[in-house]
Amino acid sequence: AITRTFSIIKPDATRRNITGKVNAMIEAAGLRIVAQKRLQLTQAQAEGFYAVHRERGFFGELVQFMISGPVVVQVLEGEDAVPAYRKVMGATNPANADAGTIRKELAESIEANTVHGSDSDENAAIEIAYFFSQCEIVG
Ligand code: CMP
Repeated sequence: AITRTFSIIKPDATRRNITGKVNAMIEAAGLRIVAQKRLQLTQAQAEGFYAVHRERGFFGELVQFMISGPVVVQVLEGEDAVPAYRKVMGATNPANADAGTIRKELAESIEANTVHGSDSDENAAIEIAYFFSQCEIVG
């Protein structure tokens, strides 16, 4: 089925001016960018978005990284969008990511790993609603 997922192009990518390279890889994978905006996250927004990781040892550093520069938040649409995007992103740790994936080709480290993507349809809906209103998504 045609579904949607939520994506963040992270500050390591905006800093290196490679958001277009990321978008080209997203589109080459057959996903459509149906909403997109560049934002400077606040600490409260980043903490809220990653609340599921609040107890993890890397939480504080992750939040600081995510507010260290602009991000690009996106809604992607395509056939089974959640697993399709996870496939093109590659493993969380770029050292473990397959060749040709965004994280293998572009990421700097497990933290500065260039992109975030939803891990389920349920979380995709929650994450999309965190950043976008219905009228901002144009399929
Ligand atoms: P993301 O898919 O956005 O979800 C949580 C993020 O935490 C992850 O990508 C990484 O950027 C970051 N992170 C930092 N350290 C770790 C770690 N040890 N394990 C998993 N995620 C980590």
